[in-house]
Amino acid sequence: MIDLRSDTLTKPSKGMMEAMMKAPLGDDVFKEDPTLLELQSKLAAMFGMEAGLFFPSGVMCNQMAIKCHTNPMDEIICDELSHIYNAENGGWAIHSGVSIKLLKGDRGRFTSEDVLNSINPKVDWMPNTKLVCAENTVNKGGGSIWNFEELKKIGETCSANGLKYHLDGARLFNALAETNQQPTDYGRIFDSISICFSKGLGCPIGSVLLGDEEFIARARKWRKAFGGGMRQAGILAAACIYALENNLPLIKEDHRRAKTIGAYLVNASFVKYLYPVESNIVLFEIIDSLNNDGFLQLLAEQGIRAVPFGKNTIRMVTHLDFDDAQLNQVKQGLNAINELIREQIAE
Ligand SMILES: Cc1ncc(COP(=O)(O)O)c(C=O)c1O
Repeated sequence: MIDLRSDTLTKPSKGMMEAMMKAPLGDDVFKEDPTLLELQSKLAAMFGMEAGLFFPSGVMCNQMAIKCHTNPMDEIICDELSHIYNAENGGWAIHSGVSIKLLKGDRGRFTSEDVLNSINPKVDWMPNTKLVCAENTVNKGGGSIWNFEELKKIGETCSANGLKYHLDGARLFNALAETNQQPTDYGRIFDSISICFSKGLGCPIGSVLLGDEEFIARARKWRKAFGGGMRQAGILAAACIYALENNLPLIKEDHRRAKTIGAYLVNASFVKYLYPVESNIVLFEIIDSLNNDGFLQLLAEQGIRAVPFGKNTIRMVTHLDFDDAQLNQVKQGLNAINELIREQIAE
Protein backbone atom coordinates (compact mmCIF):
# COMPACT_ATOMS: atom_id res chain seq x y z
CA MET A 1 0.00 0.00 0.00
CA ILE A 2 1.24 3.49 -0.82
CA ASP A 3 0.25 5.60 2.15
CA LEU A 4 -0.42 9.24 1.32
CA ARG A 5 -2.76 9.93 4.25
CA SER A 6 -0.26 12.20 6.01
CA ASP A 7 3.39 13.23 6.21
CA THR A 8 3.31 12.10 9.85
CA LEU A 9 3.39 8.44 8.77
CA THR A 10 7.13 8.29 8.06
CA LYS A 11 9.33 5.89 10.01
CA PRO A 12 12.79 6.96 11.22
CA SER A 13 15.49 6.02 8.70
CA LYS A 14 18.52 3.87 9.57
CA GLY A 15 20.73 6.98 9.71
CA MET A 16 18.28 8.68 12.05
CA MET A 17 18.09 5.62 14.33
CA GLU A 18 21.90 5.49 14.47
CA ALA A 19 22.04 9.17 15.43
CA MET A 20 19.50 8.47 18.19
CA MET A 21 21.51 5.51 19.49
CA LYS A 22 24.70 7.55 19.69
CA ALA A 23 23.24 10.69 21.31
CA PRO A 24 24.79 11.85 24.61
CA LEU A 25 21.94 12.00 27.14
CA GLY A 26 21.06 13.56 30.49
CA ASP A 27 18.00 14.53 32.53
CA ASP A 28 16.23 17.45 30.88
CA VAL A 29 14.21 18.33 33.97
CA PHE A 30 17.66 19.20 35.40
CA LYS A 31 18.45 20.93 32.05
CA GLU A 32 21.24 18.39 31.64
CA ASP A 33 20.47 16.66 28.36
CA PRO A 34 23.24 17.92 26.05
CA THR A 35 21.54 16.77 22.84
CA LEU A 36 18.24 18.43 23.73
CA LEU A 37 20.02 21.65 24.73
CA GLU A 38 21.88 21.53 21.41
CA LEU A 39 18.65 21.15 19.40
CA GLN A 40 16.90 23.98 21.24
CA SER A 41 19.78 26.42 20.84
CA LYS A 42 20.49 25.35 17.24
CA LEU A 43 16.90 26.01 16.17
CA ALA A 44 16.68 29.28 18.12
CA ALA A 45 19.88 30.47 16.43
CA MET A 46 18.59 29.37 13.02
CA PHE A 47 15.50 31.59 13.47
CA GLY A 48 17.38 34.39 15.24
CA MET A 49 15.21 33.94 18.33
CA GLU A 50 16.41 33.92 21.92
CA ALA A 51 15.35 30.45 23.06
CA GLY A 52 13.61 27.20 22.21
CA LEU A 53 11.76 24.50 24.14
CA PHE A 54 11.17 20.90 23.10
CA PHE A 55 7.64 19.42 23.18
CA PRO A 56 6.26 16.00 22.35
CA SER A 57 3.76 17.39 19.83
CA GLY A 58 2.78 20.33 17.68
CA VAL A 59 -0.55 20.61 19.49
CA MET A 60 1.19 20.98 22.84
CA CYS A 61 3.46 23.67 21.37
CA ASN A 62 0.52 25.68 20.02
CA GLN A 63 -1.46 25.28 23.22
CA MET A 64 1.49 26.36 25.34
CA ALA A 65 1.99 29.42 23.15
CA ILE A 66 -1.66 30.39 23.70
CA LYS A 67 -1.32 29.72 27.44
CA CYS A 68 1.80 31.87 27.77
CA HIS A 69 0.55 34.77 25.64
CA THR A 70 -2.92 35.13 27.19
CA ASN A 71 -4.99 35.32 30.37
CA PRO A 72 -8.51 33.97 30.93
CA MET A 73 -11.16 36.16 29.24
CA ASP A 74 -8.74 37.15 26.46
CA GLU A 75 -9.57 36.39 22.83
CA ILE A 76 -7.36 34.93 20.12
CA ILE A 77 -7.74 35.48 16.37
CA CYS A 78 -7.33 32.53 13.98
CA ASP A 79 -8.44 31.57 10.51
CA GLU A 80 -11.48 29.28 10.30
CA LEU A 81 -9.26 26.63 8.64
CA SER A 82 -6.53 26.76 11.28
CA HIS A 83 -5.32 23.61 13.01
CA ILE A 84 -5.62 25.43 16.35
CA TYR A 85 -9.37 25.86 15.77
CA ASN A 86 -10.17 22.61 13.95
CA ALA A 87 -7.95 19.92 15.33
CA GLU A 88 -6.88 20.66 18.90
CA ASN A 89 -10.10 19.76 20.71
CA GLY A 90 -10.82 23.37 21.61
CA GLY A 91 -7.75 23.33 23.84
CA TRP A 92 -7.62 27.15 23.89
CA ALA A 93 -10.85 27.14 25.94
CA ILE A 94 -9.79 24.29 28.20
CA HIS A 95 -6.20 25.24 28.98
CA SER A 96 -6.30 28.99 28.64
CA GLY A 97 -9.93 30.03 29.21
CA VAL A 98 -9.90 32.24 26.12
CA SER A 99 -12.41 32.73 23.32
CA ILE A 100 -11.61 32.58 19.64
CA LYS A 101 -12.50 34.88 16.75
CA LEU A 102 -12.43 33.21 13.36
CA LEU A 103 -11.43 34.92 10.14
CA LYS A 104 -12.47 33.78 6.69
CA GLY A 105 -9.23 33.95 4.76
CA ASP A 106 -8.11 32.72 1.37
CA ARG A 107 -7.26 29.07 2.00
CA GLY A 108 -6.30 29.93 5.57
CA ARG A 109 -4.52 33.20 4.80
CA PHE A 110 -6.09 36.40 6.13
CA THR A 111 -4.99 40.03 5.85
CA SER A 112 -3.80 42.72 8.25
CA GLU A 113 -7.07 44.54 7.54
CA ASP A 114 -9.02 41.44 8.64
CA VAL A 115 -7.05 41.49 11.90
CA LEU A 116 -7.59 45.20 12.45
CA ASN A 117 -11.34 44.79 11.90
CA SER A 118 -11.47 41.95 14.43
CA ILE A 119 -9.94 43.66 17.41
CA ASN A 120 -12.55 44.11 20.12
CA PRO A 121 -13.08 47.53 21.68
CA LYS A 122 -11.89 47.72 25.28
CA VAL A 123 -15.20 47.44 27.11
CA ASP A 124 -16.23 45.45 30.16
CA TRP A 125 -18.34 42.93 28.26
CA MET A 126 -16.07 41.91 25.39
CA PRO A 127 -13.06 39.62 25.61
CA ASN A 128 -9.73 41.37 25.41
CA THR A 129 -8.14 40.67 21.99
CA LYS A 130 -4.65 39.44 22.78
CA LEU A 131 -3.15 37.06 20.26
CA VAL A 132 -3.14 36.46 16.50
CA CYS A 133 -2.23 32.97 15.28
CA ALA A 134 -1.21 32.28 11.68
CA GLU A 135 -0.36 28.87 10.18
CA ASN A 136 2.19 28.35 7.39
CA THR A 137 1.75 26.25 5.33
CA VAL A 138 -2.00 25.90 5.91
CA ASN A 139 -2.91 22.24 6.20
CA LYS A 140 -6.64 22.64 5.52
CA GLY A 141 -5.86 25.19 2.80
CA GLY A 142 -4.16 22.38 0.86
CA GLY A 143 -0.61 23.32 1.90
CA SER A 144 -1.13 26.97 0.92
CA ILE A 145 1.81 29.30 1.48
CA TRP A 146 1.47 32.83 2.84
CA ASN A 147 2.74 35.94 1.14
CA PHE A 148 5.47 36.99 3.56
CA GLU A 149 4.73 40.70 3.10
CA GLU A 150 1.19 40.13 4.43
CA LEU A 151 2.55 38.23 7.43
CA LYS A 152 4.85 41.18 8.06
CA LYS A 153 1.99 43.68 7.82
CA ILE A 154 -0.04 41.59 10.28
CA GLY A 155 2.98 41.71 12.61
CA GLU A 156 2.98 45.50 12.38
CA THR A 157 -0.76 45.58 13.13
CA CYS A 158 -0.16 43.36 16.16
CA SER A 159 2.64 45.58 17.47
CA ALA A 160 0.59 48.74 16.94
CA ASN A 161 -2.33 47.25 18.89
CA GLY A 162 -0.51 45.46 21.70
CA LEU A 163 -1.26 41.98 20.34
CA LYS A 164 1.06 38.97 20.45
CA TYR A 165 1.72 37.07 17.24
CA HIS A 166 2.17 33.28 17.06
CA LEU A 167 2.98 31.10 14.06
CA ASP A 168 1.91 27.47 13.85
CA GLY A 169 4.90 26.51 11.74
CA ALA A 170 4.23 22.77 11.75
CA ARG A 171 5.15 22.92 8.06
CA LEU A 172 7.12 26.18 7.99
CA PHE A 173 10.10 24.43 6.38
CA ASN A 174 7.76 23.51 3.49
CA ALA A 175 6.96 27.20 3.01
CA LEU A 176 10.63 28.17 3.31
CA ALA A 177 11.57 25.63 0.63
CA GLU A 178 9.32 27.43 -1.88
CA THR A 179 10.02 31.07 -1.06
CA ASN A 180 12.98 33.44 -0.77
CA GLN A 181 12.63 34.09 2.95
CA GLN A 182 15.13 32.91 5.53
CA PRO A 183 14.13 31.47 8.94
CA THR A 184 15.44 34.71 10.54
CA ASP A 185 12.85 36.71 8.56
CA TYR A 186 10.17 34.77 10.45
CA GLY A 187 12.04 35.07 13.76
CA ARG A 188 12.00 38.84 13.39
CA ILE A 189 8.22 39.22 13.03
CA PHE A 190 6.71 36.56 15.30
CA ASP A 191 6.66 36.52 19.11
CA SER A 192 6.55 32.74 19.02
CA ILE A 193 6.87 29.99 16.42
CA SER A 194 6.18 26.27 16.74
CA ILE A 195 8.13 23.96 14.45
CA CYS A 196 7.25 20.27 13.96
CA PHE A 197 9.84 17.61 13.27
CA SER A 198 7.36 14.75 12.90
CA LYS A 199 5.99 15.88 9.52
CA GLY A 200 8.10 16.74 6.44
CA LEU A 201 11.31 16.25 8.43
CA GLY A 202 10.53 12.59 9.11
CA CYS A 203 11.11 12.32 12.88
CA PRO A 204 9.06 10.04 15.12
CA ILE A 205 8.28 12.72 17.74
CA GLY A 206 9.09 16.33 18.45
CA SER A 207 8.23 19.99 18.12
CA VAL A 208 10.08 23.05 19.30
CA LEU A 209 8.52 26.29 20.51
CA LEU A 210 10.64 29.39 19.88
CA GLY A 211 10.38 32.78 21.57
CA ASP A 212 12.24 35.15 23.85
CA GLU A 213 13.93 33.99 27.07
CA GLU A 214 11.16 35.20 29.35
CA PHE A 215 8.40 33.57 27.26
CA ILE A 216 10.27 30.26 27.03
CA ALA A 217 10.95 30.26 30.79
CA ARG A 218 7.19 30.61 31.36
CA ALA A 219 6.47 27.88 28.79
CA ARG A 220 8.92 25.60 30.60
CA LYS A 221 7.08 26.07 33.89
CA TRP A 222 3.69 25.49 32.28
CA ARG A 223 5.01 22.47 30.36
CA LYS A 224 5.97 20.92 33.70
CA ALA A 225 2.53 21.70 35.11
CA PHE A 226 1.00 19.92 32.10
CA GLY A 227 3.18 16.86 32.80
CA GLY A 228 5.41 17.56 29.83
CA GLY A 229 8.78 17.67 31.61
CA MET A 230 10.94 15.02 29.96
CA ARG A 231 14.03 13.20 31.10
CA GLN A 232 16.48 11.70 28.53
CA ALA A 233 14.61 13.33 25.65
CA GLY A 234 17.91 13.88 23.82
CA ILE A 235 17.25 10.52 22.20
CA LEU A 236 14.39 12.29 20.36
CA ALA A 237 16.29 15.53 19.85
CA ALA A 238 19.06 13.57 18.12
CA ALA A 239 16.53 12.56 15.46
CA CYS A 240 15.57 16.23 15.01
CA ILE A 241 19.20 17.34 14.65
CA TYR A 242 19.73 14.54 12.13
CA ALA A 243 16.66 15.74 10.21
CA LEU A 244 17.92 19.35 10.13
CA GLU A 245 21.24 18.15 8.76
CA ASN A 246 19.97 15.52 6.32
CA ASN A 247 16.26 15.79 5.51
CA LEU A 248 15.74 19.51 5.08
CA PRO A 249 16.95 19.58 1.46
CA LEU A 250 14.62 16.67 0.60
CA ILE A 251 11.45 18.68 1.29
CA LYS A 252 11.62 20.13 -2.23
CA GLU A 253 11.40 16.57 -3.58
CA ASP A 254 8.13 16.04 -1.70
CA HIS A 255 6.81 19.18 -3.37
CA ARG A 256 7.91 18.03 -6.83
CA ARG A 257 6.09 14.72 -6.32
CA ALA A 258 2.95 16.45 -4.99
CA LYS A 259 2.91 18.77 -8.00
CA THR A 260 3.30 15.76 -10.30
CA ILE A 261 0.28 14.11 -8.66
CA GLY A 262 -1.55 17.41 -9.19
CA ALA A 263 -0.69 17.24 -12.89
CA TYR A 264 -2.18 13.71 -13.08
CA LEU A 265 -5.35 14.92 -11.37
CA VAL A 266 -6.01 18.22 -13.06
CA ASN A 267 -7.93 16.81 -16.05
CA ALA A 268 -9.05 13.53 -14.49
CA SER A 269 -12.66 12.52 -15.06
CA PHE A 270 -13.31 12.14 -11.31
CA VAL A 271 -11.96 15.55 -10.26
CA LYS A 272 -14.33 18.48 -9.85
CA TYR A 273 -11.75 20.92 -8.48
CA LEU A 274 -8.06 20.66 -7.75
CA TYR A 275 -6.68 23.14 -5.22
CA PRO A 276 -3.42 24.76 -6.36
CA VAL A 277 -0.58 22.46 -5.26
CA GLU A 278 1.93 24.72 -3.51
CA SER A 279 3.83 22.34 -1.23
CA ASN A 280 3.44 18.68 -0.20
CA ILE A 281 -0.36 18.59 0.15
CA VAL A 282 -2.70 17.68 -2.69
CA LEU A 283 -6.35 18.53 -2.06
CA PHE A 284 -9.12 17.88 -4.55
CA GLU A 285 -12.88 17.72 -4.77
CA ILE A 286 -14.40 14.73 -6.50
CA ILE A 287 -17.42 14.90 -8.81
CA ASP A 288 -20.91 14.88 -7.29
CA SER A 289 -21.75 11.36 -8.49
CA LEU A 290 -18.96 9.98 -6.28
CA ASN A 291 -18.54 10.09 -2.52
CA ASN A 292 -15.52 9.96 -0.23
CA ASP A 293 -15.96 6.36 0.95
CA GLY A 294 -16.51 5.01 -2.56
CA PHE A 295 -13.58 6.96 -3.97
CA LEU A 296 -11.22 5.92 -1.16
CA GLN A 297 -12.22 2.33 -1.92
CA LEU A 298 -11.31 2.82 -5.60
CA LEU A 299 -7.95 4.21 -4.50
CA ALA A 300 -7.42 1.31 -2.10
CA GLU A 301 -8.04 -1.14 -4.95
CA GLN A 302 -5.14 0.57 -6.72
CA GLY A 303 -2.97 0.23 -3.60
CA ILE A 304 -3.23 3.90 -2.60
CA ARG A 305 -4.37 5.35 0.71
CA ALA A 306 -5.60 8.93 1.16
CA VAL A 307 -7.89 10.68 3.66
CA PRO A 308 -11.30 12.33 3.40
CA PHE A 309 -10.88 16.06 4.05
CA GLY A 310 -14.39 17.53 4.01
CA LYS A 311 -17.42 16.85 1.84
CA ASN A 312 -16.38 15.08 -1.38
CA THR A 313 -12.84 16.22 -0.76
CA ILE A 314 -9.72 14.07 -0.62
CA ARG A 315 -6.26 14.87 0.73
CA MET A 316 -2.98 13.24 -0.30
CA VAL A 317 0.31 14.21 1.34
CA THR A 318 3.75 13.39 -0.01
CA HIS A 319 6.56 12.63 2.42
CA LEU A 320 10.03 11.18 2.96
CA ASP A 321 8.87 7.55 2.63
CA PHE A 322 7.26 8.17 -0.78
CA ASP A 323 9.62 7.84 -3.73
CA ASP A 324 9.56 8.12 -7.53
CA ALA A 325 8.79 4.41 -8.05
CA GLN A 326 5.70 4.83 -5.85
CA LEU A 327 4.85 8.04 -7.69
CA ASN A 328 4.76 6.01 -10.89
CA GLN A 329 2.42 3.49 -9.26
CA VAL A 330 0.16 6.36 -8.18
CA LYS A 331 0.11 7.59 -11.78
CA GLN A 332 -0.98 4.16 -13.00
CA GLY A 333 -3.61 3.85 -10.27
CA LEU A 334 -5.08 7.28 -10.98
CA ASN A 335 -5.09 6.54 -14.73
CA ALA A 336 -7.03 3.34 -14.10
CA ILE A 337 -9.64 5.18 -11.99
CA ASN A 338 -9.79 7.94 -14.59
CA GLU A 339 -10.68 5.40 -17.31
CA LEU A 340 -13.23 3.65 -15.11
CA ILE A 341 -15.07 6.86 -14.22
CA ARG A 342 -14.87 8.17 -17.77
CA GLU A 343 -16.60 4.98 -18.99
CA GLN A 344 -19.24 5.25 -16.25
CA ILE A 345 -19.94 8.88 -17.22
CA ALA A 346 -20.21 7.92 -20.91
CA GLU A 347 -22.77 5.13 -20.20
C1 LIG B 1 -0.76 22.74 10.88
C2 LIG B 1 -0.59 21.79 12.01
N1 LIG B 1 -0.33 22.26 13.23
C3 LIG B 1 -0.17 21.46 14.28
C4 LIG B 1 -0.27 20.09 14.14
C5 LIG B 1 -0.15 19.24 15.36
O1 LIG B 1 0.94 18.41 15.37
P1 LIG B 1 0.98 17.09 16.31
O2 LIG B 1 0.24 16.05 15.57
O3 LIG B 1 2.44 16.83 16.44
O4 LIG B 1 0.37 17.45 17.60
C6 LIG B 1 -0.55 19.53 12.90
C7 LIG B 1 -0.69 18.08 12.73
O5 LIG B 1 -0.93 17.55 11.69
C8 LIG B 1 -0.73 20.41 11.79
O6 LIG B 1 -1.03 19.95 10.58
